[in-house]
Amino acid sequence: MGSEVSEARKAAAIKAMEYLGRARVVGLGTGSTVEVFLRLASGRLMDRVVVASSTDTALLASQLGLRVLDPSTVDRVDLYVDSADEVDLLGRMVKGGGAAMTMEKVLASAADLRVFVVDELKVVPRVPHARPIPVEVLPQAISFVRRRLGELGYSVSVRVSQGKRGPVVTDLGGVVLDVTPPRDADLVEVARTLRSIPGVVEHGLFVDLVDVLVIGRLSGSVETVTFRR
Ligand code: 5RP
Repeated sequence: MGSEVSEARKAAAIKAMEYLGRARVVGLGTGSTVEVFLRLASGRLMDRVVVASSTDTALLASQLGLRVLDPSTVDRVDLYVDSADEVDLLGRMVKGGGAAMTMEKVLASAADLRVFVVDELKVVPRVPHARPIPVEVLPQAISFVRRRLGELGYSVSVRVSQGKRGPVVTDLGGVVLDVTPPRDADLVEVARTLRSIPGVVEHGLFVDLVDVLVIGRLSGSVETVTFRR
């Protein structure tokens, strides 16, 4: 990643800290942008509790000295902060580059306010753009889900681990398929189709789950886009 991109993310993360307000329970996504936010915000998070969407984020938060709650004990989040792989200006996103989209979606859905922090290179004209959509699947259902998606005209690849042979296994014990829908497929229909296949746990298309999008520009400026619920 170039230094302009990391500076853009940092500037956006600093802006996102303005939304901490009085939030007591802060939900956190997963990935390098969330790490930037977490490191910058850790001082202001000391007297709050955080709930993490992944082991990676939970470990970092606890290394920083924060109080980390298990998501199973939390039914409501005051503020959720995350990033995305792709986002458009209708607030639709592709997430799951870090294979944490299932708990990310749970925490975003449980939150009163959802703030997503991106650099401008992640903003695309229309989601999905260049990235496939990650789909978390029960390992026992992988062959069936793959076949069903193929029949529906999706192209599918199994995400392979860098650290072991075979598929990436998520924190929840699922495997990840990266899927590309048929050309010109309607996004809401794609989301519905993915959810309807038995064995699919969750997918990385996020629709209507962002309240504030903070975009760090490579020029150093930051733009904030607010969405109505
Ligand atoms: C993890 C995600 C991340 O938000 C997404 O992959 C962006 O990560 P990064 O900030 O490292 O670019 O969805 O599941």
